[in-house]
Amino acid sequence: MSDTLIQNTTAFFEKSFGNSPQKTVLSPGRINIIGEHIDYNDGYVLPAAIDKVICFTFAKNNSTTSKIIALDLNEEFEVDLTQEIQLSEVTWTNYILGVLKQLQDNGFSFEGFNCVFSSTIPVGSGLSSSAALECGMIFGVAALFDLTIKKVDIALMGQKAEHWVGINCGIMDQFSSVHGIENKVIKLDCNTLEFEYHDANFKDYSLMLMDSNVKHSLFTSEYNTRRMECEEGLSFIKSHFPEIKNFKDCSEQQLLSLQDKMNPLIFKRVHFVVKEINRVQKACEALDNGNIELLGALLFETHNGLSQEYEVSCAELDMLVATAKADDTIIGSRLMGGGFGGCTLNLIKKGSENEVKNKFSNLYLNTFGIELKFYDVKISNGTI
Ligand code: ADP
Ligand code: GAL
Repeated sequence: MSDTLIQNTTAFFEKSFGNSPQKTVLSPGRINIIGEHIDYNDGYVLPAAIDKVICFTFAKNNSTTSKIIALDLNEEFEVDLTQEIQLSEVTWTNYILGVLKQLQDNGFSFEGFNCVFSSTIPVGSGLSSSAALECGMIFGVAALFDLTIKKVDIALMGQKAEHWVGINCGIMDQFSSVHGIENKVIKLDCNTLEFEYHDANFKDYSLMLMDSNVKHSLFTSEYNTRRMECEEGLSFIKSHFPEIKNFKDCSEQQLLSLQDKMNPLIFKRVHFVVKEINRVQKACEALDNGNIELLGALLFETHNGLSQEYEVSCAELDMLVATAKADDTIIGSRLMGGGFGGCTLNLIKKGSENEVKNKFSNLYLNTFGIELKFYDVKISNGTI
């Protein structure tokens, strides 16, 4: 699949600029097995890069202006690198402007280049197409202008670019896009950025994403609100238990002892966070021990928490997970990513994929009048 993508992107580059690209970069999207809304809460997450990528082709153009073409949108823009970089009216250009600004602000010097990019990552489905865009762009500029930038710094600059565009996201998406390894999940401590790889062996089950094909507009405002609610909750916990520095240090018992004193809404949010951090630990052990049924049960628990306590689900996602729960061939399902739409992640008995697809697509269409999409994902390498 990447071969065709590379050929098409390269051909378009040659047609547009009259020369061949000097550098090609593949930057993947990501899934997250478990640990949702935990990255900005400084806990553990368990993401992986996937075989859906943005392909970038780059060449220097011996000027101080960069020209970038989004092939899938048939749109392009230019940026004068001698002027201060500012937000534009066009969203996709802002992710790119954001990372170029980050590079400049961090003292990396580069000149004009031409770029064409095209993608197989569905946009707005919670597979982090924006993180892939940010990290791939930094990776390409670094390669073109011989800049030495550590992977972790690529991820951090990508995250800052996303903040600049308007979402106060955590580090998970950018980190997994650059650090992915084929058939490994990454257990990342989002507080220290220490990480370790675990084998992604789901035994008799395969991973399938179901794309609800909705993205409710609440997403950005609620995302940023959750972050503030959790900050408030953590400050409250710290004021009673000074030894607690972050959510990882807080036991469920400690939290329960504060329940009566806490704002009930804030309690619900942080109760989810503390339990979800525990679930990531259990999920890693289950994966290491080949106990995929337990992993599946944890996914259902996570969804329940995201829906009832963290309140980032929606009717479409709840219906998909409830249907999965009632289906004997699916042992785990949950909304994946920020919520309010996007995909569910499912652990499905190998061999029953077609049956599941037929059943769910008919049901979803009849209930919501929307087409459900399915992605079989492979866990793959990070940006190359
Ligand atoms: P997600 O990261 O879940 O896919 P986001 O809303 O965070 O969703 O990011 C999607 C945005 O990233 C798009 O609205 C667009 O601005 C940009 N983007 C992603 N992929 C592409 C692409 N192939 N071409 C142009 N812009 C893209
Ligand atoms: C994403 C966000 C990530 C993470 C995730 C929820 O949209 O970019 O940083 O917080 O939501 O786990």
